Amino acid sequence: PPFTQMISLLDFEKRSSPKAWAYFSSGATDMSTLALNRATWNSILLIPRVMVDVTKVDTSTILGGTPAALPLLIAPTGMAKLSHPQGEVGFAEGAGHEGIPFTVSTNASAGLDDIISGRTHDNQPFFFQLYMNRDRPKSSALIKKNGARIFKAIILTVDAPWPGKREADERVKNEVVLDLGVAGGRGSAPDSKGAGVGRAMAGYIDANLNWSDIAWIRAQLPTSSSPHESPEPDMLIGVKGVQSVQDVLKAISLGVNIIWLSNHGGRSLDTTPPALYVLLELRRDHPWVFALPHVEIYVDGGVRRGTDVVKALCLGARGVALGRPFMYALQYGTEGVRAAVQILRDEIETTMRLIGARTIAELGPQFLNTKALMPL
Ligand code: FNR
Repeated sequence: PPFTQMISLLDFEKRSSPKAWAYFSSGATDMSTLALNRATWNSILLIPRVMVDVTKVDTSTILGGTPAALPLLIAPTGMAKLSHPQGEVGFAEGAGHEGIPFTVSTNASAGLDDIISGRTHDNQPFFFQLYMNRDRPKSSALIKKNGARIFKAIILTVDAPWPGKREADERVKNEVVLDLGVAGGRGSAPDSKGAGVGRAMAGYIDANLNWSDIAWIRAQLPTSSSPHESPEPDMLIGVKGVQSVQDVLKAISLGVNIIWLSNHGGRSLDTTPPALYVLLELRRDHPWVFALPHVEIYVDGGVRRGTDVVKALCLGARGVALGRPFMYALQYGTEGVRAAVQILRDEIETTMRLIGARTIAELGPQFLNTKALMPL
């Protein structure tokens, strides 16, 4: 069906080629985390407050220090051209029109110049997701080059220093040699573990990634050109793939600005907890984290509904990212991506109205019953 008939994000989940479907939809080994990511949002209940004037609702917020129309982000996903010939340009255009940030993957299939020229206005927020290359000068060059462009934040992915075991992806034959123009590396030849798209792209990633790399990244970032301004870098630094409260606190102590709770959409290590569990634990044990002025907490994994988004925000998340749904929506090009954001916007607004919250700032744990998962 055409995208104009889509009424839920789930409607976009049609099959593309078997290889693309294996790459998009797969998760690690038994895919327990993949399933739990989706299911867990429904374990939290919304507690509506009635008799509130909800004629007007305002979903606007700040993401990466920049205004956003919605508390949503397009998560970094590699190889968007497997979904549509426009590739990541469709994400850039869709995000720009709808007023949300797009996080460009190191493994993007479109060239960065093309992606950036897809922006709909000069101040459109882009983040750059970094997979650290074993060949450090390559990562350094990439950070310096992209830092000088229009990226608001550099997001270091920390949950995949080694490829996860994704069996559906390993089973498909990789007939096409992938040209990873942005990665500063290239797809490696199929190895003995198979030839899926995921494995082919992970070959350059540094298994020696560690906490001292935050300072290393900071040192690569361009600083303000004016000598009178502080020598602080202009770009925010984020870590994506944090899966424990301890690591959230570690990242904060190192001055990280964006802490992105994620298990990589269940693609890295199976049986790890959904981001929602870590968010709940943070809210219960360290609520001060959400009041830090220079820290934004994002979550992703299995988010498919406006209710999921509102629940995350009630617990203190600043932003909520989606990976697969946007990849599926991109099968219809820019307009598909826009339609997906609009569906989510309607669902978020409806949810806010029906719980009696008019602004993002009004959202809080008072609207939730979390007892089935973790009493607060
Ligand atoms: C990803 N993800 C990902 N993450 C990242 O940091 N860099 C990347 O290049 C990719 N590539 C990628 C490709 C595909 C096809 C998928 C599905 C996912 C993970 C992604 O950013 C995000 O964490 C998850 O997709 C969120 O889960 P949902 O929304 O897909 O359930």
